[in-house]
Amino acid sequence: MIVFEHVSKQYSQDAYALKDVSLSIADGELIFLAGPSGAGKSTLLKMIAGIEKPSSGRVSVNGQDISKLKTSSLPYLRRKLGLILQDQKLLNDRSVLSNVMLPLVVTGASSTEAEQRARIALEKVGLPDKAASLPMALSGGEQQRVAIARAIVNRPQIILADEPSAFLDRENANKVLGALKAFQSAGVTCIISSHDEQFLDQASRVIYLSQGQVVNTWKSSLAA
Ligand SMILES: Nc1ncnc2c1ncn2[C@@H]1O[C@H](COP(=O)(O)OP(=O)(O)O)[C@@H](O)[C@H]1O
Ligand SMILES: [Mg+2]
Repeated sequence: MIVFEHVSKQYSQDAYALKDVSLSIADGELIFLAGPSGAGKSTLLKMIAGIEKPSSGRVSVNGQDISKLKTSSLPYLRRKLGLILQDQKLLNDRSVLSNVMLPLVVTGASSTEAEQRARIALEKVGLPDKAASLPMALSGGEQQRVAIARAIVNRPQIILADEPSAFLDRENANKVLGALKAFQSAGVTCIISSHDEQFLDQASRVIYLSQGQVVNTWKSSLAA
């Protein structure tokens, strides 16, 4: 369960990136975070991960107040989260497989176990045959699915994806979204930001942001 209570974020004194946002997201939901560029989508996602802290208000994940977490406790939170953020590029000097293994290696898994789990993650996103490739040799859509594999290799409870379908054509965007939806079907909470309205009807709920405020939220009638 993710809860925002009267959360505001100001990067500078007179400009709000988020303004008095209150919302709650239950376990297992597939949420689309919609709204134009600059609306505050990335800021909202970064707050769930503790990357940005609220200027006022409270963000909690599973009952734990994120802003009260010590820096040393952040890795424990992050382990519950699968992050697909825009500034976390794949490393081009190593294979797809070792990119996906990285989060496991960092947390001290043995290389045998890391490789095994990374291969399973690549299978789940439909790219088992790209393990040995360099990221640069893959299409944009495939690279985005590698980023998803890397995000889920720690078996997170919550996936945060910031504009995962940006710059992709419809077919590749569908594949990326399909991969994310498969995790939601398996019980993982997914929060996906997008300014692309063509996918909104696939969400269990759409939260629409404008100028840092939630201006609309609706449940999709078409959602599976
Ligand atoms: N690190 C930052 N420093 C200053 N302003 C920022 C920073 N990050 C975001 N902003 C501002 O906050 C607002 C919301 O940004 P953002 O959350 O990135 O929106 P979105 O992801 O919906 O495009 C924008 O006006 C943006 O310029
Ligand atoms: Mg953004």
